[in-house]
Amino acid sequence: MRTRILTGITTTGTPHLGNYVGAIRPAIEASRNEENDAFFFMADYHALIKCEDPVRLQRSRLQIAATWLAAGLDPQRVTFYRQSDLPEIPQLCWLLTCVTAKGLMNRAHAYKAAVDQNVAENQDPDAGVTMGLFSYPVLMAADILLFNAHRVPVGRDQIQHIEMARDIAQRFSHIYGRGRELFVLPEAQIDESVATLPGLDGRKMSKSYNNTIPLFEGGSKQLREAIGRIVTDSRLPGEPKDAENSHLYIIYRAFASSDEAAAFRRALEEGMGWGDAKQALFERIEREIGPMRERYESLMARPEEIEEILQEGARKARAIAGPFLAELRAAVGLDAVQPAGAPVAKKKSGKQARFVSFRDEDGRFRFRFLAADGQDLLLSEPYADAKAAGAVVKQLRALADPGEALRADGDSYVLFLGGALAARGPSFTDAAARDSALAKLVAELRTMAAD
Ligand code: TRP
Repeated sequence: MRTRILTGITTTGTPHLGNYVGAIRPAIEASRNEENDAFFFMADYHALIKCEDPVRLQRSRLQIAATWLAAGLDPQRVTFYRQSDLPEIPQLCWLLTCVTAKGLMNRAHAYKAAVDQNVAENQDPDAGVTMGLFSYPVLMAADILLFNAHRVPVGRDQIQHIEMARDIAQRFSHIYGRGRELFVLPEAQIDESVATLPGLDGRKMSKSYNNTIPLFEGGSKQLREAIGRIVTDSRLPGEPKDAENSHLYIIYRAFASSDEAAAFRRALEEGMGWGDAKQALFERIEREIGPMRERYESLMARPEEIEEILQEGARKARAIAGPFLAELRAAVGLDAVQPAGAPVAKKKSGKQARFVSFRDEDGRFRFRFLAADGQDLLLSEPYADAKAAGAVVKQLRALADPGEALRADGDSYVLFLGGALAARGPSFTDAAARDSALAKLVAELRTMAAD
């Protein structure tokens, strides 16, 4: 099974070099690994908590999407979407909110920091704290749990949020899971090998310090100018420099091979002037990001192209999120109304879901899977002999995580085993009918595997 990695990018600013080195580049690299199934999204609902300027929010969403695409994100390979295009996220957020202890949220670092600052300033402790800020971790839990992500690459400041997502998931399963976990419990992934870049003033590069070097915006001219403003000491050309502690070297190293970095370091130690060092740094960075900037600019000039990619991403994401949410809604008692006389809860006694094998008109072996109430839920692919069909049935009976094997597909759904299409659902009149059948199928298969 592939590892599902998922991460969100808050859309409040313009990407800078620190974002590129610390998040964008490693995430795209990870997405190229065959073992990973990557989900990257723009956390624009989260952005709303920090940013009340619609123009800035809108612009930032565009810049961030264009940046990731220009930096090499392949939307065929990665599920790349905008949080606000998935109605399933706020829906799940509410289900989770209803089981989240207020006390848990009271302990969130970001909220506590706001309270501490208010107290220090003799203000009301909750001054300026919105419910959005207070509940921030629940929305983040919904982002992660909706896709059953295994790993969540984030910065250190986000570790507590991932722990909270686990707590909330466990609480929800404790109440509604009838003895099983309903979610994959996510792990934070902190990449130690990734560099943290110093900004212009030497503190960590961050938009909150206003010390950033823009990645693409402003073109190579802005890049050169910003590099020119990086603080150095006053040693003159010809004087040996303390390369190890110079911001220029730290940034250079994040873009260079180890040989290049060693050469740069030696040159500084041998007296290269800061002006020349800045020129070399500019050239090295430009070599990597210059070609990407062209793509960035062409995307920014055609926002409809970005929009199309994001809509396709939303469609892919919703094909997974929709059926799973239907399952969760059913677990809390919000499933679609059953026709009168249909069994309310599945009982141990009475009819069980079952496989029915048959030969199709071409003489090949197939089976159907019927729910306890007789509803036709799956039709298998054809198999050459009964043994092959039987082996698939056996695998299905033991499927520990059927949700993982199933995907919505147009007006129906498909089931994959070991990478191969094994069965499909019937056609449904609408997505709601499809999703409720999917939820039922998952529940039936789980019951069967548990027996
Ligand atoms: N809170 C994250 C940050 O500020 C952004 C984010 C929102 C996120 N939802 C997420 C990250 C889900 C990982 C997973 O960086």
